[in-house]
Amino acid sequence: MPISNRLDVDGSTIGYDTWGEGETTLALLHAFPLSRGQWRAQGEALAHALALRVVAPDLRGCGESSVRSESGAEPITMERMAQDILALLDALDARRVVLGGLSMGGYATLAALRLAPDRFAGVILADTRATADTEQGRAGREATAAFVVEQGPGALFDRDAPKLLSNRVTTRHPEIVSQARALAAGNQAEGLAAQARGMALRPDSIALLPQIHRPALIVVGDQDAITPVSDARVLFERIPHATLSIIEDAGHLSNLEQPQAFTDAVASYLREKIGVAART
Ligand code: MLT
Repeated sequence: MPISNRLDVDGSTIGYDTWGEGETTLALLHAFPLSRGQWRAQGEALAHALALRVVAPDLRGCGESSVRSESGAEPITMERMAQDILALLDALDARRVVLGGLSMGGYATLAALRLAPDRFAGVILADTRATADTEQGRAGREATAAFVVEQGPGALFDRDAPKLLSNRVTTRHPEIVSQARALAAGNQAEGLAAQARGMALRPDSIALLPQIHRPALIVVGDQDAITPVSDARVLFERIPHATLSIIEDAGHLSNLEQPQAFTDAVASYLREKIGVAART
């Protein structure tokens, strides 16, 4: 079971879970429109197997990190999320940190690398991309923000489930669909609208990739319909010390669809590239 806690950052509360103890901290940032519960399986398993602490925060706008806003009109940028994470890591006195994120969590991870390039011992980018939104993509974010405010987070998840999850899961694994839906439905519409608008503002990070000199793990589900394997290959080819792990039979939310394979890929990376020891 995780230990749940809260931290005040610039007038907002950041809720987070931690598992285990160790000199290395692995911070995992969740996807849109989910929350920190996305990492429950990895937090539990990794802290059990390895001598490390795992931290999973709710990104600003989600879960316990909701912000007060009438309509979600004020965007929550990826930089704002990254500042929250840097403040959280400082408050936790986390000195040796591997930062990882899936999809939107990956955008926030790239923002953190822009703000504090030397802060991290390693980086995990899962089911994400380095490019900015296209014009059409930005218009889609505005439609998403309006949709969620009008129809609610559960309806947003239902609308997007065929892209977030693989066909295998949507047709044969209702328990995984329910798990992901419950995370989305637990959020507030205004926070999700503000995050959607924040994602639209994120800059292109392609030029940042060759400057990431820490060992990186790139993970992608082989059936990811939002950030496909081709996006992962761009990250893999441009980051100097990167490893690519393609998770078989997994869609965009690869850690929920194939928790064991995802955990194994992260555990191997932490052992072999970061030097984290087994928990004795
Ligand atoms: C996510 O999973 O975080 C989103 O699908 C990312 C996006 O919409 O670009």
